[in-house]
Amino acid sequence: MKIEPITFTDKMGRTVTLRAAEPKDAQALIDYLKVVNAETPFLLREPDECSITLENEEAFLQGILDSEREIMLIGLIDGKHVGNCSIASIGSYKRVSHRCGVAIALYQEYCGCGIGRVMLETALDIARKAHYEQAELEVIEGNTNAMALYEKLGFKKYGTFPNNMKYKDGSYRDSYWMMKQFK
Ligand SMILES: CC(C)(COP(=O)(O)OP(=O)(O)OC[C@H]1O[C@@H](n2cnc3c(N)ncnc32)[C@H](O)[C@@H]1OP(=O)(O)O)[C@@H](O)C(=O)NCCC(=O)NCCS
Repeated sequence: MKIEPITFTDKMGRTVTLRAAEPKDAQALIDYLKVVNAETPFLLREPDECSITLENEEAFLQGILDSEREIMLIGLIDGKHVGNCSIASIGSYKRVSHRCGVAIALYQEYCGCGIGRVMLETALDIARKAHYEQAELEVIEGNTNAMALYEKLGFKKYGTFPNNMKYKDGSYRDSYWMMKQFK
């Protein structure tokens, strides 16, 4: 989905631009995946598992741009990529067409400045206008910053999934299913 770019000022007084990611952003997004997955234990991949090719990432981004109900929002400060937030359909069947999944992650140096909140609010607004009725996500236990943001924006916990992640040291973490209904 394409949108008109949106700008806002973060808590540090910087101008942040939000726009739909395009194929030209593919290399920045591959680099971002490697870094953010190394910065936090709360995302899905080990850093060495971010091995998508430039060609595949470009095709992936073009597919999202061409879709009517999905978006990858990219945040930029002075042209520098600060993070992403995406809205994706849960599935292509009619019975789940009211549901979307949300994902968000910023580079660590840009966390805590109010960017995540505006990015997620913008993504949820886009989802509502795309006629989704609820937004869903999974968050790993211990990710207090993310849970604080989700709860502030009206997400509610509705279940726990045991042993969602298993780390290199053999330890496990549960996840919480969270959901926000638009109605
Ligand atoms: C989770 C994440 C997207 C949040 O974005 P952010 O820009 O850091 O969050 P914000 O600065 O916009 O803060 C959002 C709100 O939550 C509040 N908040 C943040 N951490 C909090 C905490 N630990 N306790 C209470 N409130 C907290 C902030 O004060 C703010 O409230 P306000 O808008 O009323 O001032 C970001 O920290 C991130 O990318 N983390 C790493 C990747 C990740 O964990 N992604 C989520 C995977 S499920």
